[in-house]
Amino acid sequence: MASITIKNLSKSYGDASDVPAVKNINISVPDGTFLTLLGPSGCGKTTTLRLIAGYITPDSGEILIGDRRVSEAGSVVPPEKRGMGMVFQNYAIWPHKTVFENVAFGLKIRRNTNDEVVKKVQQALSQVGLAGYDKRYPNELSGGQQQRVALARSLVVEPDILLLDEPLSNLDAKLREKMRTELKDLQKRTGITFVYVTHDQAEALALSDQIVVMQRGEVQQIGTPYEVYERPANRLVADFMGLINVFEGEIKPLGHGKALFTISDHVALEVTAPTGLTSATKGELVVRPENITLVPATSQSNCLVGKIISHTFLGNLMELLIKLPNGQEVRVQSHPMNKFTDGDEVELMIDAASTSVFI
Ligand SMILES: Nc1ncnc2c1ncn2[C@@H]1O[C@H](COP(=O)(O)OP(=O)(O)OP(=O)(O)O)[C@@H](O)[C@H]1O
Ligand SMILES: [Mg+2]
Repeated sequence: MASITIKNLSKSYGDASDVPAVKNINISVPDGTFLTLLGPSGCGKTTTLRLIAGYITPDSGEILIGDRRVSEAGSVVPPEKRGMGMVFQNYAIWPHKTVFENVAFGLKIRRNTNDEVVKKVQQALSQVGLAGYDKRYPNELSGGQQQRVALARSLVVEPDILLLDEPLSNLDAKLREKMRTELKDLQKRTGITFVYVTHDQAEALALSDQIVVMQRGEVQQIGTPYEVYERPANRLVADFMGLINVFEGEIKPLGHGKALFTISDHVALEVTAPTGLTSATKGELVVRPENITLVPATSQSNCLVGKIISHTFLGNLMELLIKLPNGQEVRVQSHPMNKFTDGDEVELMIDAASTSVFI
């Protein structure tokens, strides 16, 4: 059983007056899941991973593997007795050891026979696509291959759980994408529970069954990639998961879970009512740039109208900046072959179903 349950976990590195690195977090990782901790630098991702691994002791709360309690304040089962592998943020492999010796290191500590060591190292190397590289030294490998040695080293001990701290951060964009697919395949093939740390939202969306969005040591939202991108729980999550436009306005309940959001005197959208909305109040409507369509403005336009002030060709899409009469600038992404040019008057059609409203 390799599920992980984190209950009310807090950790502060300094004394009690310090801002905690991790504050009262609750996360449940079902057996065989690919779960990602996502958030900006300093939000507590590595701290959470090190708490799960048993390298640090929590101030309060507890961690269970299956139904076995492995961490609580003042008592921690050591890392080597947790059935976990860990790939560290700086993946440190030993430069003076061969690939074989690097991977075998974890096994030798665990007192395997020589035959077992050879068999298991070869198996771990072939799992990461490095069969035949065993005699090389790290400086004879590419960055991606070194990264895979670090991965093989943690796989060789046949962990039930693998903890990975930004394991692809040192790779170029192409290689990172390739390794992403390989990691996902590896996780599916082995059924190992993965807890993966990244600050890259695209990586989290591509890899995860579940994403935990963290900010300032706290869990902001836990959900599938679709849920955290399309249905962010708050402004912080919406902002972190991608580009957004924010419109201020008034929202009033319409009943049956619906509400009317008025952006300006004549533009109103029917949206899903946010929880807690009981009467008309001020709110923020959040729209991603890909959910706004542009059409040429007509004189009787009863929509948002603005003027294109810049356009940027990004290869697979065109990004346009539109200035509204009130001075607000709105970012819109459209097909790269669209015919608009700077100075054009356009209508902005917002896809109401894909908006989020926060009050
Ligand atoms: N050993 C330490 N001693 C004191 N403070 C620490 C220590 N390690 C981390 N911190 C602090 O705890 C907070 C969380 O750090 P953590 O390393 O968990 O962040 P992170 O989300 O992994 O960031 P990054 O994306 O930059 O790796 C930060 O404010 C950091 O400065
Ligand atoms: Mg970190």
